[in-house]
Amino acid sequence: MTAGEIAAPAQGSLRLRFMLAILLWVMLGIGGIWFSATRLFAAHVEQSYHEELEVHVRELSRLVVLDEGGRPQLSRPLSDPRYDEPLSGFYWQVTASGQPSLRSQSMTRGRLDESVAHAGQIAHRVENGPTGPTITYGMLRQAPDGRDIHLVIATDQSELDRVISSFTQELTMWLVTLGLMLLATGIAIIGFGLQPLDRLGGAIGRLRRGEAQHLEGRYPREIAPLVTDLNAYIRQNGEMVDRARVQASNLAHSLRTPLAVIMDEAERLGQNPTTAPSGQALLEQANAMQQQVGYQLARARFSAGVRKQGMVSHPLRVLEPILRAMHRLHPDREFAIDHDECGDGSIAADPVDLAELLSIVLDNAGKWSRSRVSVAMNCDGQGGFDIRISDDGPGMTDDQITRACEIGTRFDPNSPGSGLGLAIAREIADGMGAQFELLRGNPGLVVRFARSAAQV
Ligand SMILES: Nc1ncnc2c1ncn2[C@@H]1O[C@H](COP(=O)(O)OP(=O)(O)O)[C@@H](O)[C@H]1O
Ligand SMILES: [Mg+2]
Repeated sequence: MTAGEIAAPAQGSLRLRFMLAILLWVMLGIGGIWFSATRLFAAHVEQSYHEELEVHVRELSRLVVLDEGGRPQLSRPLSDPRYDEPLSGFYWQVTASGQPSLRSQSMTRGRLDESVAHAGQIAHRVENGPTGPTITYGMLRQAPDGRDIHLVIATDQSELDRVISSFTQELTMWLVTLGLMLLATGIAIIGFGLQPLDRLGGAIGRLRRGEAQHLEGRYPREIAPLVTDLNAYIRQNGEMVDRARVQASNLAHSLRTPLAVIMDEAERLGQNPTTAPSGQALLEQANAMQQQVGYQLARARFSAGVRKQGMVSHPLRVLEPILRAMHRLHPDREFAIDHDECGDGSIAADPVDLAELLSIVLDNAGKWSRSRVSVAMNCDGQGGFDIRISDDGPGMTDDQITRACEIGTRFDPNSPGSGLGLAIAREIADGMGAQFELLRGNPGLVVRFARSAAQV
């Protein structure tokens, strides 16, 4: 990312949003099913339970006979065997007024309240029975002699609760399994749905790292127009940069000849004592113009601060021919790559720009070093790199370091040069979104040119 680009901070995550929506939806759906199913089932079970017990009350009523003494007797046991099992939770009791009650064999202790049996209609309520709370049914019947017979049947409430709770437990287990399965498929669907966006992210990453010239791949209808537009934009951008380069270089070239003529004239004027001051002033201004022209021409050779996408350089392959040239230019200096962690790796940069920058810095180092110039290269494999060029020359003071990259700055007017080298080098680095720093070495100067993977 170059200095001028604005990094849009990511806000939230699409994946997370979809997940939360699905989680909410599944929880609401499953919760709703659980609530209504348990309610319905309980109502249904209670209903059939009541109907069954009312049948028992009627059966009891049919079986009751009064013996000669007016005591109630059953003509045969009730058909449900649970009334004979001690403390089974199923009890009955028959009371004829003025007589002791007759009770089921299951009722080995306690008694039932016969007040529930107060009408010809079956009534029911919850009472305390021999083995905890019971649902008690009662009915009043008239004996042939006109006496009241109270018929009471009671079953433990826990019996009904047990049926309902075992259903609820099983239902809960199934619904939790269903919920988990729905969530799992939801997550799979999200992954599947967002796959094109992941692919697009990968394609943009390859473009940034210089492994591709445009966004590759086929995308669904919803994002294909975006990819097409982006590709068109990238192509236009590249064409614009090329055009700008050509125009800048044309302009600079067209100014060169007139400038040379003006400088010639200025020199002639300088030789004449009467016009010497104006000749001198003209020459100074023409020199400044020539510097600018040189600078613009150099800029036109690289991307002029506009980064083109999809360019890759192999630092080592770019560096080697430059080092050979430096050996010829400065035969009495040693140039060495002391540290290389880039190997055959590549970085996203225009090789022409990279070569220009390295040549400028290595030429300076060759010019100013005492005997040796060394290069150290590090790459992180994700597009980040750090290249340092060190020499054993006089180096620069802090004050010189701050001014060295300005156009036309030179600290030793006796040595040949234009004072443009470092200005151009820094401009190239800016265009790549890389850092360009001068550091004080021990001895000499270290030039650091680096970009972190995050800036790619
Ligand atoms: N490696 C170096 N060691 C010491 N001084 C340097 C080094 N590189 C550059 N300089 C100083 O910085 C000035 C600007 O460098 P540059 O922009 O390349 O212009 P030029 O090389 O044309 O003079 C040089 O004139 C020189 O004084
Ligand atoms: Mg130079």
